[in-house]
Amino acid sequence: MVGIIVALFFVSSAQRKAQKPPPAIITDVEEDQATESLIDAMEHSIATDKATIERIIDEHDCTSAYLDVGTNIAVQIRKLYEPHLYTKPEYWGNRINNITQLRNATMLPRFESTYGPTPRCRVCAFGFEPNPNHHERLGRVQAHLRALGYGVKVFHAAAAETDGVVHFRVTNKKHMKMENEDWGAKRLDKIEDIEYSHHDYKTIAARSVDVSRIFSTIDDALTKKAKALGMENHGPITMKLDIESGEFGVLPHLLRTGVLCRVVDEAYIEWHEWFFTNDPIAHYSTVSIKAMIKGMVTTENKQQSYRAPGDANAIVVAPAPPSFPEAPAADDAMQTFQEYVANNCKTKMLDDDDETYLHDGQPMDTPTHPMC
Ligand SMILES: *[C@@H]1O[C@H](CO)[C@@H](O)[C@H](O)[C@H]1NC(C)=O
Ligand SMILES: *[C@@H]1O[C@H](CO)[C@@H](O)[C@H](O)[C@H]1NC(C)=O
Repeated sequence: MVGIIVALFFVSSAQRKAQKPPPAIITDVEEDQATESLIDAMEHSIATDKATIERIIDEHDCTSAYLDVGTNIAVQIRKLYEPHLYTKPEYWGNRINNITQLRNATMLPRFESTYGPTPRCRVCAFGFEPNPNHHERLGRVQAHLRALGYGVKVFHAAAAETDGVVHFRVTNKKHMKMENEDWGAKRLDKIEDIEYSHHDYKTIAARSVDVSRIFSTIDDALTKKAKALGMENHGPITMKLDIESGEFGVLPHLLRTGVLCRVVDEAYIEWHEWFFTNDPIAHYSTVSIKAMIKGMVTTENKQQSYRAPGDANAIVVAPAPPSFPEAPAADDAMQTFQEYVANNCKTKMLDDDDETYLHDGQPMDTPTHPMC
């Protein structure tokens, strides 16, 4: 019986092979059309983002914004609007260092001093999270906060330097030990990363959005709203950036476009330089930051040059892998960046990584009445 089935299988697969049509020849015209439809789709998405941002800011009369870049499960956005749920100090454990500490949510007083007391009806929050493992929950958090009357939009996209698609490493659902746990989900910048991915992870394609474009749109919409309300300027814009080493690409881009200095009043950045021990991506990214800041970007010596990930316009000259004798240390690039910002931007760099309530765990009751 098994033999017959196997034989049938071979016969049918041989037949399939025989019947397989020759590979389609793609004409130049078809290729051009495919490219054009991709560009159309991209332009449509960009227009949709703009309309969404303008509508949310307009409908909620927002004059300030909170940018939650690397939203994960949106605990920080909930702390902004529902701080009363996060006031209890929480035991925070770090298995690697074997420490357990009682910690307060340090963002609560920070939000208070930046945005004032609750309800923060005129603060709109925009999040960015490409990980599909979180999208169902993010939809619920967004609906919950909107029912309370707040202007919240979480983009299901990676914060990046360009509009397009990025590869992203996420935990396989079946390996996720807890519902809300998927730290270390990160963007992959080179094919080796993708192949190297551990079996606990899978690689997905995710939408990427140009953060400079989105931040500018938010800034413009807030300005327009503030003017309409008779204010001279709009209120503060605060950014949290926690994107698992993607900051080494996004920050140079935000600097080069001038958007960081022009738009962001306060920045909380979690640096992930420890990803970068002897890693070529680290090398190019940190070189990219330094080169961009010092105006040293060069297109010479293509043989040995590599496109800096996250910096599409920058070609940096660097020795070929695997040895990087002249690689600036990641912390060197971080320091260069911080000094540049301190001397040239209005942006205040604040050092605070509030990781309390990682799993959230707070109820999302259907509100009986909106706060705003
Ligand atoms: C972690 O710390 C606890 C208490 O401080 C100690 O009893 C335990 O042996 C430590 N575990 C490891 C793996 O070091
Ligand atoms: C948490 O904040 C409360 C109130 O401000 C304070 O009394 C307490 O000492 C803080 N706890 C920790 C662990 O920092």
